[in-house]
Amino acid sequence: MATAGGRYFGFVTGAALPVTVASNWLATAWDQNSAHHTSAPATAVLERTALRWLLELLGLPASSGGAFVTGATMANFSALAAARHAVLQHAGWHVEADGLFGAPPITVLVGEEAHPTLMKSLGMLGLGRSRVLRVPVDGQGRMRADRLPAWSGPCIVCTQAGNVNTGAFDPFAAIIDEAHARGAWVHVDGAFGLWAAASAALAPLVAGMARADSWATDAHKWLNVPYDSGLAFVRDAGALRSAMAISADYLPPQSESRNPSDYTPELSRRARGVDVWAALRTLGASGVAEMLERCCRHARRFASELRSAGCTVLNEVVLNQVLVSFGDADTTRRVIAELQADGTCWCGPTQWQGHTAMRISVCSWATSDEDVSRSLDAMLRIAARCRG
Ligand SMILES: Cc1ncc(COP(=O)(O)O)c(C=O)c1O
Repeated sequence: MATAGGRYFGFVTGAALPVTVASNWLATAWDQNSAHHTSAPATAVLERTALRWLLELLGLPASSGGAFVTGATMANFSALAAARHAVLQHAGWHVEADGLFGAPPITVLVGEEAHPTLMKSLGMLGLGRSRVLRVPVDGQGRMRADRLPAWSGPCIVCTQAGNVNTGAFDPFAAIIDEAHARGAWVHVDGAFGLWAAASAALAPLVAGMARADSWATDAHKWLNVPYDSGLAFVRDAGALRSAMAISADYLPPQSESRNPSDYTPELSRRARGVDVWAALRTLGASGVAEMLERCCRHARRFASELRSAGCTVLNEVVLNQVLVSFGDADTTRRVIAELQADGTCWCGPTQWQGHTAMRISVCSWATSDEDVSRSLDAMLRIAARCRG
């Protein structure tokens, strides 16, 4: 499957910028164990620099801590481990030392449309996939700020930047204001949507988001670096460090220089920051914004031409995601199957609020106007055949 090609629109799958493929090979050849600054100073410095650039690009607090991990699942896990540390420390409990047995209960709020990997992260942290309180969402999957339940004691509110189906964003400003007024920690799962903060044109979608306490995103999605590459950011760097750092007599002592593994679940780890550094160094802030906006323009074109041809677009196309129905569920499923067999492009199915739909997710640097034209031709040719 040519997932790195310009006509792959499945799941939310970024490609790999050529420079990041080169940097990835280089980092593999160097084979640095990028756990400590002492043993891998060059890659530790590249990672530290990439972190500074990312915080600047995304408009997040410059003193935030950051973890370069495998993907958004582990980024959510890492950020939520910091959240768990902080809310329990505030309640007088040291979770890393004493575990969760006997700890003050933590209320966890998630939107009805939280990504399943967020639930998995909560489960891995002992916070439970099912004991969370689910906040109702609107027709686009946005958490309803007016439906936050009451809570008391330690609380973590998990918001979302970019719904995996619609691309919609939770109303951050309203949720964060209320959650903070009531003493909660606010986390943002922005596996792909967090990147909207890097474009002036898209930034209104994330208004208020920078006031949250932690954020997770993927570099292997919209920054277009090779797998695997996720990023966690935590406003209180000390909370992330408290959740993750270890010491031992044989390990280098904590020092002035940033040890990557003081912020990650892993000790031994590849030098993941090198690819992020290479992507940012090459594209610059304007190049990143241009890539994001180009993908969104392609998504809007898909929506508009499919709509003009009589197909139903089920979502507000605010970002890079398009949900399209070709008629009833069977017809839509047949179009998807035939499109996949045809091979011009690749899109997958989903269910959105009771409707069967085809998902188009545009997040590859390689997708060109010509790719969109060829893909649209294939979609409409096959849809005409299936609809008879
Ligand atoms: C909103 C959201 N969160 C988390 C994830 C999980 O990301 P990963 O597969 O990189 O762990 C995804 C993947 O699409 C996502 O869309």
